Amino acid sequence: MISTGNSPKILVTGGAGFIGSHTVVSLVEAGFEPVIVDDFSNSERSALDGIRAILGRNVAFYQADCNDAAAMESIFQKEQLSGVIHFAAYKAVGESTREPLKYYRNNLDSLLLLLELMPKYSVPNLVFSSSCTVYGQPEQLPVTEETPRLPAQSPYGNTKAICEDIIRDAVHAQTPLKAIALRYFNPVGAHPSAEIGELPLGVPANLVPFITQTAAGIRSSLTVYGDDYNTPDGTCIRDYIHVMDLAEAHVQALRKLSENTAESLYDVINIGTGRGETVLNIIKTFEQVTGVKLNYSIGPRRPGDVEQVYADVTKANTELEWTASRSLAESLEDAWRWQQKLSVEAKS
Ligand code: NAD
Ligand code: WQD
Repeated sequence: MISTGNSPKILVTGGAGFIGSHTVVSLVEAGFEPVIVDDFSNSERSALDGIRAILGRNVAFYQADCNDAAAMESIFQKEQLSGVIHFAAYKAVGESTREPLKYYRNNLDSLLLLLELMPKYSVPNLVFSSSCTVYGQPEQLPVTEETPRLPAQSPYGNTKAICEDIIRDAVHAQTPLKAIALRYFNPVGAHPSAEIGELPLGVPANLVPFITQTAAGIRSSLTVYGDDYNTPDGTCIRDYIHVMDLAEAHVQALRKLSENTAESLYDVINIGTGRGETVLNIIKTFEQVTGVKLNYSIGPRRPGDVEQVYADVTKANTELEWTASRSLAESLEDAWRWQQKLSVEAKS
């Protein structure tokens, strides 16, 4: 049982989601007190049960839409918050192309509301979920934070670039606000307890959940999207980061914001491992660590995919004093343990 005491309260929007739920666990372990707000639009209540099982106690939770001004204001009134981590957003790239307004409405409005409420209730610190998608296909690798952002490939990607700019402008206008936008690379894995993990709705678009569902027999086979790229084995390269490493990066970002005595501050930091892995290497490593043979075939390229992207993590190492410590094998083992637990639950 981890006690609450007088820990600084952190509002975690989207805290029932994949990255949010893991960050809630890391926050408590680091001595913060999370207050979750989520509307379960892309998650399930069971995530809260998982968090409780890991921590041995409940975490404050509000079921609310982050765009509901009255609901959000009452949370700010009730809780003496010292910071916000804003995860809540829609994130499906394909859907954002079909329903762009839904994405602009949810992802932009929720941020704007927070930026209005934070100064009103003297909440100084914000950590925002951005994405490596803002880099598109960069000319130079690895990408640093100075690598120019390219025009977004999707409305989803555009919401991340616009949100970064909104936060930057709010800070430049001397709003009493200190903010760090973390640009995540490819989050994978699950908590090692298998109490929480990723819950993709329908057919997963992302590689690792597709792999684990194929291994579990939920999908009959995996298609590798193209093997004619200019990479060592012809398949795309990404920087896959364990979700617990990513969670801990949020804790460090909050610590750095609270230690900083400036009134206003805006920073952007890459969060990845610094290592690029091909799709075929992910498959091979998964087979090695789990002993499960994957049924896969090579298919055509997926439209919109970048050939390769991986992070320069120097800034995260120096400014956040954070580094990813978990291996790819560990990430895939944890993702598989989580999938096996889901499969057992589905049968019972
Ligand atoms: P997720 O969908 O699992 O979690 C988001 C959570 O926010 C969900 O629980 C959802 O129910 C909630 N939510 C969405 N809109 C809401 C609203 N208006 N009010 C209240 N709750 C709302 O996604 P995730 O993978 O955990 O991603 C978290 C954040 O990180 C998102 O902003 C996403 O864009 C960003 N990100 C994710 C990835 C990735 O590959 N998973 C990569 C880069 C950035
Ligand atoms: C990884 C690699 C695919 C599925 C997406 C979003 C991005 C960011 C992270 C939020 C690619 C290949 C995949 C499959 C495959 N999210 N693949 N077969 O495309 O790097 O990024 O998630 O910000 O915005 O676009 O991740 O997991 O979809 O793909 O071969 O069935 O796996 O081609 O090379 P991606 P992914």
